[in-house]
Amino acid sequence: MENINWKDLSFGYIKTDYNVRTYYKDGKWSEPEVTDSEYLNIHIAATALHYGQEAFEGMKAYRGKDNKIRLFRWKENARRLINSARGVIMAEVPEELFRDEIFKAVKLNEKYVPPYGSGASLYIRPLLFGSGAEVGVSPAKEYTFMVFVTPVGPYFKGGVKPVSMMICRDVDRAAPKGTGIFKVGGNYAASLRAIVKARDENYANVIFLDAKEKKYIDECGPANFFAIKGNTYITPKSETILRSITNKSLVEIAENMGMKVERRPVHLDELPGFDEVGACGTAAVISPIGKIFDPGTNQVFEYCKDGNPGKVQMKLYNKLTAIQVGDEPDIFNWITVLD
Ligand SMILES: Cc1ncc(COP(=O)(O)O)c(C=O)c1O
Repeated sequence: MENINWKDLSFGYIKTDYNVRTYYKDGKWSEPEVTDSEYLNIHIAATALHYGQEAFEGMKAYRGKDNKIRLFRWKENARRLINSARGVIMAEVPEELFRDEIFKAVKLNEKYVPPYGSGASLYIRPLLFGSGAEVGVSPAKEYTFMVFVTPVGPYFKGGVKPVSMMICRDVDRAAPKGTGIFKVGGNYAASLRAIVKARDENYANVIFLDAKEKKYIDECGPANFFAIKGNTYITPKSETILRSITNKSLVEIAENMGMKVERRPVHLDELPGFDEVGACGTAAVISPIGKIFDPGTNQVFEYCKDGNPGKVQMKLYNKLTAIQVGDEPDIFNWITVLD
């Protein structure tokens, strides 16, 4: 613990002191249990291991100038986990249980919430999975819900910088009517071939297209896509992407700043006409995109030609991050300050 250099933290796992677990059996959830073990004792026939009955969340706690710990829109994550549970027929985690467990996990590991000004934060990982044994393909009767936390560094060390993305044409992350809208592990397994290939070719990540027509932008690896054109914020409407809480928040900020917002299918042919493009999600908030390569057509689309992130997206980024750490008033009622 003494050795953590807050400014050098990566987006990786660092052991903290405790995690919290609760078990669903005979139709009810147990009281949350606190443990210092980093391991789970899991049945060899648990449905999570065989049939992917698993969903998770990702959120952050921030320390403000006043030294208080702030959680950002945790109810949205609680609701999304309920939706994901429905998506793969798992027991739902009630909102109050979700809250109790994340609050407990953060408070017990309070000393790992990085200091204000470091750019680092405490990443919170709630995880729900089928822990009951089944051999045939059917939902488990027992579930485990657990929360662990780990301190993570700012995504961009030394300031936000534009990244390069590669359009993916040979892998689909999610199918229409499939599970793309849920935050379930299978979607991430399905995306790995594409992500690893893009990274091997020195791209930060991939842009997935709609699986059916390969004409519309879906999302960017584990982040939503958005574009700025004039005074309009444009983001894909698709039945195969995760509903990003960061994107939802940027939309509200954009509207509040007097911008127009369009949530609609975004055609690849529109790429040359955008002023700015970016990826958004909890990890980086915004990753400005400087270059997009389409291996299908060999086209390259370039943005941020001066090497700097677009001005409009930086305005949105600065506003959202200032609200998260409490530097700006919480006018949208997004923040819960822990006692
Ligand atoms: C597939 C996918 N899309 C988008 C996002 C961004 O969502 P959020 O802003 O809620 O972190 C994530 C990350 O959680 C993701 O995994």
